[in-house]
Amino acid sequence: MTDNAFPKAERDAIYRAIAERRDMRHFIGGTVEPQLLRRLLEAAHQAPSVGLMQPWRFIRISDRALRADIQQLVEQERIRTAEALGERSDEFMKLKVEGINDCAEVLVAALMDDRERHIFGRRTLPEMDLASLSCAIQNLWLASRAEGLGMGWVSLFEPQALADLLGLPAGAKPLAILCLGPVEEFYPAPMLALEGWAQPRSLNELLYENRWGVNP
Ligand SMILES: Cc1cc2nc3c(=O)[nH]c(=O)nc-3n(C[C@H](O)[C@H](O)[C@H](O)COP(=O)(O)O)c2cc1C
Repeated sequence: MTDNAFPKAERDAIYRAIAERRDMRHFIGGTVEPQLLRRLLEAAHQAPSVGLMQPWRFIRISDRALRADIQQLVEQERIRTAEALGERSDEFMKLKVEGINDCAEVLVAALMDDRERHIFGRRTLPEMDLASLSCAIQNLWLASRAEGLGMGWVSLFEPQALADLLGLPAGAKPLAILCLGPVEEFYPAPMLALEGWAQPRSLNELLYENRWGVNP
């Protein structure tokens, strides 16, 4: 810790938001006040980005019919994913993988068009645009948790179909359907772990020293 550190209570709050953030799929409807939504989006917008590219675009879905169309796209992909999973198909179909119909707000997060001209930090790693958008989404996720709102990241959709539905220009790409809003309670652990789909690994297994695979 240095003299520049936040006071202890504030540090604890940061770590608490990180630890208690969950990917939520159960929502209880309700609303998100416009000012609060704005505050959350400002938090997203303060994210770091490669070359200060700010490649994120957020589309708020306020039209209920459009929300239903988006949910349909996700349902189609859910079925295709189950087919691709083979023997785990039935198990997958029992999982709740989105809360689009029940959440207060749906936001689509997309990469902007015309990204090729941004070369700083992307010449060898063009996917740094995606990394930057992900930083913005994580800010939104953590700020939402601190405000007591759940958020779920849904990536089960055909990007071109969603791009067509929302009128994205050529080259722009939707990457996340974000479900946001009040929840009854936050899951105590990742839902996929609670459901027995996958178990998280410990940091020690994933932490190496000097060479790949060599644990400290
Ligand atoms: C890039 C990304 C895409 C995801 N897409 C989906 C999705 O389509 N459906 C879903 O149910 N969860 C999705 N998740 C949530 C993960 O399943 C979840 O983050 C993981 O199981 C850990 O749980 P936690 O976020 O509660 O810690 C996604 C998460 C990330 C980071």
